[in-house]
Amino acid sequence: MNKRHTRLFALISTGIAVVVFLGLTVDSHRQFPKLTNSENITDSVIRGQNIWHANNCINCHTMLGEGAYYAPDLTKITQHRGTPYLTAFLKDPSQFYDEKRHRRLMPTPKVNDQEIADLIAFMDWVSKVDNQGWPPRPIMVSGGSLPGTDLSVAQQSARSGTAEGTNMPPGAVPVTSANDPIALGEALFRSVSPACTACHSTAPGVNLAGPTLADITAQAKLVIASPDYKGKAKTAEEFIHESIVEPSAYLHPGAMYSANGVSFMPTTYATDLKPEQIDQLVAYLASFK
Ligand code: HEC
Ligand code: HEC
Repeated sequence: MNKRHTRLFALISTGIAVVVFLGLTVDSHRQFPKLTNSENITDSVIRGQNIWHANNCINCHTMLGEGAYYAPDLTKITQHRGTPYLTAFLKDPSQFYDEKRHRRLMPTPKVNDQEIADLIAFMDWVSKVDNQGWPPRPIMVSGGSLPGTDLSVAQQSARSGTAEGTNMPPGAVPVTSANDPIALGEALFRSVSPACTACHSTAPGVNLAGPTLADITAQAKLVIASPDYKGKAKTAEEFIHESIVEPSAYLHPGAMYSANGVSFMPTTYATDLKPEQIDQLVAYLASFK
């Protein structure tokens, strides 16, 4: 190659790179409305975004890969925790986390009820953006997990500070057999949306956003026998079933689990799950002895 060839080569390859770059940029912009569901950007979502910025939530959290890696990534938070939980959490984070045990605490944000609703609308809109797997390795909330990974297990033991915080070794994959209701229930426990594992551990003493379900069968029998119980269940299985389809029928004691008679557990399972799926979840949980 002589000098002229070199220059020509540089010019042509730069030209090609520019054309490809512009093409991809235009293509990205064409896809944004679809990937971001831009038709779902309501006034509340916009207000929520302004409140998000005004309160510098990003000084500690990441969202869509941006922000500080101090606190959990909130890109998919509304899919890990329902609205009732998030509403209560944003009112008073200290009810849910203990500075001594978790060694970090979120300051109580100065937001009123409407602003909390707007923040949740914003976070819910973000959670539905097709972010094509970005960010790749976010810090998860306790119990949170990404599809196909089991960060939750590592996170749970990190949270509780014990190896007993897990019921399986990190990276282990549950064996699912096609017609064993208990195995199917265990798989559902991890895969329904929001995942039960986002809020419940099955290890004794490990309470996340919801109480541990390790001793649910024994607990259920005690609750049913107590005079305060106002639900309809007569057996442990019926109690677990009722807990899933009608979480507020009985409220597990503790201010971090419910407020004003309403459980923070999502009420969406009764309609989102098929009856046989609920039965499988019950079979799985009732199998703990
Ligand atoms: C000073 C740092 C800091 C700031 C600022 C902050 N957070 Fe947090 N946040 C945390 C930490 C730390 C956690 C993890 C829980 C804990 O240990 O308290 C957390 C947890 C959360 C969670 C998940 C709770 C759960 O268990 O599911 C949500 C939702 C959240 N923050 C929302 C917000 C919003 C919205 C803002 C802005 C109004 C905000 N945070 C500002 C530190 C912060
Ligand atoms: C956003 C957090 C959250 C998610 C997700 C969640 N739960 Fe819960 N769950 C709770 C809370 C909080 C309670 C305690 C308040 C109450 O009694 O309803 C609870 C209570 C329960 C109880 C009764 C426990 C007791 O001791 O009374 C059962 C059983 C249960 N959940 C099962 C499930 C199953 C199965 C799933 C998935 C299909 C699930 N939960 C998903 C938060 C959650």
